[in-house]
Amino acid sequence: MGSITFNHVFKRYKGESRPAVNDFHLSIEEGEFLVLVGPSGCGKSTTLRMLAGLEEISSGEMYMDDKFINYVSPKDRDIAMVFQNYALYPNLSVFENIALGLKLRKTAKHEIELRVKRVAKILEISHLLDRKPSQLSGGQKQRVALGRAIAREPQVFLMDEPLSNLDAKLRAQTRAEIIKLQSDLKRTMVYVTHDQVEAMTMGTRIVVMKDGLIQQVATPRKLYDEPINVFVAGFIGSPQMNFISGTIEREEGNFYFANKRMRLLLSDKYGSRFENSAKFIRNVIMGVRPEHVLLKANMPTDEQSSFVPASVQMTEATGADSYVYVLVGETRIIARTEPENEYGKDEQIAVGFQMNRLHFFDENTGIAVGGEEG
Ligand SMILES: Nc1ncnc2c1ncn2[C@@H]1O[C@H](COP(=O)(O)OP(=O)(O)OP(=O)(O)O)[C@@H](O)[C@H]1O
Ligand SMILES: [Mg+2]
Repeated sequence: MGSITFNHVFKRYKGESRPAVNDFHLSIEEGEFLVLVGPSGCGKSTTLRMLAGLEEISSGEMYMDDKFINYVSPKDRDIAMVFQNYALYPNLSVFENIALGLKLRKTAKHEIELRVKRVAKILEISHLLDRKPSQLSGGQKQRVALGRAIAREPQVFLMDEPLSNLDAKLRAQTRAEIIKLQSDLKRTMVYVTHDQVEAMTMGTRIVVMKDGLIQQVATPRKLYDEPINVFVAGFIGSPQMNFISGTIEREEGNFYFANKRMRLLLSDKYGSRFENSAKFIRNVIMGVRPEHVLLKANMPTDEQSSFVPASVQMTEATGADSYVYVLVGETRIIARTEPENEYGKDEQIAVGFQMNRLHFFDENTGIAVGGEEG
C-alpha cells in the first residue's frame, strides 16, 4: 500500500506559457522516503499539491496502488500533507487540531482520543494538548502539524518544507524525528525541500528538479558521485563542486585535459569515456569537489604531477575543516583541507587534483561524459 505512479504528468498554470511541471514521470515504491529537491520555483510544491489533489493536472495520469486518482478528491486520497506554515487552526486547541482530520472522517470518539494521545506521546507534546497554537513555540507548532498528519495514519505522507521555519538545532532534531517516524511507520513519504543537506540526509532516493523538469533520480550516494549533468553536480554538495573549463586533447593514445593554466594526463577511466562517446567532445567542463583538491606549499618537481601554481585568496575555517580559496589564473578553486594547514593571503602554492575523482561535462550540453546519456 502507498505506491505512487506519475505517468507523464504536466502542469501548466492558467496564462503561463511554460509548464510549472514538465513531464514528471516516476514510480515511488511503497514505504519509500522520496525527496524532491531543487531551487525555488522548480515545481516541487506543484508536484506535491497535484499528488494531494489540491491542484488540477493539465495532462498525464497519477495512480496510487494502481488506482487512477486524477479525479479523486483530496479527502478521498489516503494522503496527509504537512505544510511549511503549519496551517494550524488558531481557535482550536492542540488536541482539537490533531483530532480534526479524524473527526472529519467520522472516526469514533474513543478512537480519536486514543490516537491523539498516542501521537502526542511519540512527538512529546502530551503536556501541550490543551494549549492554543499561539501559546506554542515554532518547533512545538511544527510537531503539532506533524501530529495531525500522523494521527490520520495515511498510506502516504506529503511534506512541503516542514522544517524551514525552525532554527538550526531544532531543525536537525526534528529531521531526525521524521526519519525515525517514517522508518517506524513504514509509510510512503514524499518530502520537499530546497536544502540539499536535508535531501541528502533524509531521502532514500532523491529527485533533483530544475525548471519543472526532473534532472536526475538517484540515491544520495549516486547523486553525489555520479551527477548526470553540471546542474546536479553544482546543486548537490557544499561548498559546491569546482568547475574548470578546458579542452580534451588526444595524443599518442592518451587523453589530456588542457587549458591556459594546466595540462593534465587523464587516467584510462576517463580516456575510455571520451573514446567511447558517440560524438567527439572537445570543449568540456571539468568538475572536482573541494575534498578532492590537493594543496601543497611548493610545486612538486615530478613532470607527471597534476599540480599547478595557484595563489591563496582566503581561508574559511569551519572548525572541523578549512576551506581554502585559491586562484589558478582567473579560475577560483575551493579546497577542503585539515584545519592545521594554514595558508596566508596571496601565498603562492600548488594545487592538484585526485585524478580518479574527476567529473567531465560536455560544455555544450552540460551532460556528463560517459554518464547514462553522455
Ligand atoms: N497558482 C499559480 N499560478 C501561476 N503560476 C504558479 C502558481 N503557483 C506556482 N506557480 C509557478 O509555478 C512554478 C513552480 O512553482 P512551485 O511553487 O511548484 O515551485 P517550488 O519548487 O515549490 O518553489 P519554492 O522552493 O520557492 O517553494 C513557479 O514558476 C511558480 O511561479
Ligand atoms: Mg514550494
